[in-house]
Formats: sequence, structure tokens, C-alpha cells
Amino acid sequence: MKFTERLAIYQARVEAALDRWLPAATEKPESLNEAVRYAVFGGGKRVRPVLVYAGGEAFSAEPAALDGCACAVEMIHTYSLIHDDLPAMDDDDLRRGRPTCHKAYNEATAILAGDALQALAFQVLAEDPAITVPAERRMRMIGTLALAAGPTGMTGGQAIDLEAENRMLGLEELQDMHERKTGALIRASVELGALCSGSVDEQRFDKVSRYADCIGLAFQIHDDVLDIESDTETLGKPQGSDLERNKATYPNLLGLEGAKRAAREALDEALGHLADFGEEAGMLRQIALYIVERNN
Ligand code: IPE
Ligand code: IPE
Ligand code: MG
Ligand code: MG
Ligand code: MG
Repeated sequence: MKFTERLAIYQARVEAALDRWLPAATEKPESLNEAVRYAVFGGGKRVRPVLVYAGGEAFSAEPAALDGCACAVEMIHTYSLIHDDLPAMDDDDLRRGRPTCHKAYNEATAILAGDALQALAFQVLAEDPAITVPAERRMRMIGTLALAAGPTGMTGGQAIDLEAENRMLGLEELQDMHERKTGALIRASVELGALCSGSVDEQRFDKVSRYADCIGLAFQIHDDVLDIESDTETLGKPQGSDLERNKATYPNLLGLEGAKRAAREALDEALGHLADFGEEAGMLRQIALYIVERNN
């Protein structure tokens, strides 16, 4: 099966699972539940859920056991996007080709929609009966997601991003910011997939974890490149937003070609970490390529 076909199957799979877990828009409070669904079902490439499935494939986990983790990472991701677009942060009006959540609703509802999604993500991990691992493993999974979402991960990265506006970061600081704000959740996605399998060989787990670190960095570098090279319609979010806010980015520090080179290097390193794996890691390899070649 072609990569794009497998991608579409996994995307459809997580959309169906999200629909099962999210409160109905008719449920009270309707405005909040509507806003949550608006943000979640507004398009989106579903890269993180697909990484859960691909990480699971590499460790022979059953797809049904992976749906909950796929939902959880997309919930955290969507929450981070809703808050990232708020006037107090990047102040963007367009997301996934539509008005941002705070534009379609209002700021308070958007803040709450993000809060709700964060809580729901952990509820899914704690309660999903299809996650068949022992309770101790489930606790490890909850910890993995918490670490990725919190101050050592996404939230911390976002704080650094905001503090770095109008300031040039050094390469080390920039890499740290990217690894936190985007890399941490991408790594958690692959790890959660692996943790859903019956038995986890820690050495192999460590390899995919390193692979995920590298593609997480590559993902944000490429996002920075797209902010310059792509256009608003293709991106579904405002092109040039980083320049407008004078953000610390890879192209800003290394130039466009330097940033592209850094993304390629991270890709090569990622693939190197999968050297001992066979066909079971095929999807992980293909997603890595997709991450640095995508145009949105
Ligand atoms: C955008 O993420 C925000 C970053 C972390 C760079 P995606 O590019 O995965 O956004 P969607 O989910 O496809 O809209
Ligand atoms: C945001 O990075 C990363 C998170 C939302 C955690 P960006 O601010 O570059 O994401 P976009 O470009 O708005 O999607
Ligand atoms: Mg941002
Ligand atoms: Mg942004
Ligand atoms: Mg960006």
C-alpha cells in the first residue's frame, strides 16, 4: 500500500475515534463543546496520531489499542494550537484554513476549549478500555504525555518562544525551544504507540525515542521554513506570521538554506536510529521523509 493511502486510513481512524470521545456539540455547555469540535475537526494533518499508529506498528501493537493515544496527542496538539493563536500569544486569525477558535467564538471560549481538550486527553489515557496494557504501563503513558505537555515540554517551549520575540537566540537555545514546543509531543506520540504493545524492549524503545527527537526538531524547522516559502492558502494559516512577530526561528538564525540543511541533517539522524529495524518501521521512515517534504 502507498504511504498516502496508509496515511489516509490512519487519519480517518483517529477522526472516528475523536468523534467518539468528544462531547456532542448539543451537550451542555453547547458553546464550549461546539468550539472544541470546531477546533478539532477543522482539517489538520494528524501527524501526531499517525506517529502513534506508526510507533505502534514498529512494536506490533494492535490498531484498536492505539486509538486512545492517537486521540490524546491530537487533543493536546489542538489545545496548543488554540492557545498559540490567541492575541496574547501569536495573535493569528487563520488556522487550518478557517478563522481561529477565538475568532469563530471568543477569547474566553477559546481558552476554555483548550483547557477542556487538555483534560480530555488525560481522561482518554486513564479510561480507554481498549488500552489493554497493565495499570503500571498505563501510568507510564500518562506520565509520558504529561511530561511532553508541561513546562519541560510544549508549555515550556511556548514560554521560551514568547520570551524570544524580538531577540536573537543562539543555536543551542533555539534547538532547545524547538525540542520543547514541538519535539516533546512528537516524541511522546511515537513513545505512546510503542508503549501500547504487549512487551517493550527498552533498547529498541530508546532507538525510536531518539528517532522521534530528531523528527520533532525537523518538524518545527520545516514549519519555520514554510512560514517563509509557502503561501497562506496552502498553509491554511497566515504565511509570514513569524516575520511579523519577529520570532526566533531557524531561517532567522541560519538563513533559509541553512535551515533546510539542518532539517535534512535531523532527518538523516532520525533514519540512522532506525537502522536495526526492519519493515515494521517502514511507516516511521516514510513519515520522517514526509515531515521535511510536506508543503503545509
Ligand atoms: C503546527 O502543527 C504547529 C507546530 C507545532 C509547528 P501542524 O503542522 O501539525 O498543524 P496541523 O495539525 O496539521 O494543523
Ligand atoms: C507552535 O509553533 C507550536 C505549538 C503550538 C506548540 P508555531 O507558532 O510556529 O505554530 P504555527 O506556525 O502557528 O502553527
Ligand atoms: Mg507560536
Ligand atoms: Mg503560531
Ligand atoms: Mg510556525
